[in-house]
Amino acid sequence: MSVKAKAKRETVPPAAPPQDVTEATGMDEVWIEGGRKLKGTVAVSGSKNATLPILCATLLAPGIYRFTNVPALRDITTMLELLSLFGVKSRREDSRALFVDSTSIHNAEAPYDLVKTMRASIYVLGPLLARFGEARVSLPGGCAWGPRPVDLHIRGMQRLGAEVEIEHGYIVARSDRLRGSVISSEVSSVGATGNLLMAAATAEGETVLENAACEPEIEALARFLADMGAKIEGMGTSRLAVTGTKALYPADAPMIPDRIEAGTFLTAAAITGGDVEATYVEPGHLDSILAKLEEAGASVQVGETTVRVRAPERLKPITVTTAPYPGFPTDMQAQFMALLSVADGTSTIVDTIYQDRFTHVAELQRLGADIRVDGNCAVVQGVPSLGGAPVMATDLRASAALILGGLVARGQTRVSRIYHLDRGYERIEEKLQGLGAAIRRVRA
Ligand code: UD1
Repeated sequence: MSVKAKAKRETVPPAAPPQDVTEATGMDEVWIEGGRKLKGTVAVSGSKNATLPILCATLLAPGIYRFTNVPALRDITTMLELLSLFGVKSRREDSRALFVDSTSIHNAEAPYDLVKTMRASIYVLGPLLARFGEARVSLPGGCAWGPRPVDLHIRGMQRLGAEVEIEHGYIVARSDRLRGSVISSEVSSVGATGNLLMAAATAEGETVLENAACEPEIEALARFLADMGAKIEGMGTSRLAVTGTKALYPADAPMIPDRIEAGTFLTAAAITGGDVEATYVEPGHLDSILAKLEEAGASVQVGETTVRVRAPERLKPITVTTAPYPGFPTDMQAQFMALLSVADGTSTIVDTIYQDRFTHVAELQRLGADIRVDGNCAVVQGVPSLGGAPVMATDLRASAALILGGLVARGQTRVSRIYHLDRGYERIEEKLQGLGAAIRRVRA
């Protein structure tokens, strides 16, 4: 990888003109005329998965917070709606800055209706328990790609001294005062690490999280908590030591760039044989994705806050195995499935995080992809070209995979149920249009 020096390090793009979240209705579709090579520059938005837990952390200390580089996404709106049930007020200053006021909050339950639509709602468990000594949070239930347990969240809270019961579909956790503990699990969980960090921040004594998630979004949460006065050692590593303190206070923070959005655009460049520079990114967060793009034959140029990907007509087949950070993200697995479906040979994709996160396979097959799934392993026999077809988005990253498939498929692809897309991609069709894609949102 060649490194291009840049005078100024800037990972937060300037505010765009004010706009609402373009929320799709159930009937809206994205229509794509495939076959154009993407070219140009695309600005990457703030990270959804970093913003969601950070918003929940405002429950820990009453006051006014100001966040910048906050993406305009449905998941963010859903989280603010959930937090409003506890009395948290929020207001967008412009398209990127968000004020959050948690001055007069009260305890309430996190209801099934909201939690089932966005699993990140479980992030209120730790802060509510820490702040009020009691939390009632709905169990999230299953999701499009099967069961996603929350036992590590529950066991972790119990290790901190909470009594936890499941009552009528709700996690009910109680504790007069959480007490620090050593918490170790075989599986490294992003969600549980975030929740336990927040719960431990004000607990009595020291909490050590072993095999903690090192994902950049968790590091961002830890840094934000530290800015609020929390005492945390080992940020960004798999061993986090938290010395509880009651003296937390509000803080301001810019959101880190969204590595999955960046990865998706760079994969769009690769699948179309294009030449795209993603700006306002943190290239170090993209290492595993860029390494795989290079291995497949794309040229990758890394600047301080930019990454440029140029791709040949056809990429080489590769093996991709998802793993906790710094491994290859499960959130990029579907997009790489689309990419490799037109590579020159047989690729293998193994998802070690989620065993059956393959709902996109049947839809990619409708575009002509040749994919065989066996357990958590997909064998992708690259085909020379895909053909446009009507397809249905089944979840957030699956939607992105179908858009990528549509960008390279001959003829028209119509992606339905795109409300999944609006959960995690800000103005994706506009950004792709800016790169020369023939793509548009068709309102019902
Ligand atoms: C996972 C991804 C995250 C991604 C998100 C949405 C990893 C490590 N995490 O986060 O990057 O943004 O999906 O696609 O890649 N687990 C348990 N019990 C629990 C919690 C988790 O067994 O209580 C297991 C899960 O089944 C999974 C693994 O732990 O196999 C990692 O889960 P976790 O990181 O918590 O999942 P998410 O927070 O959903």
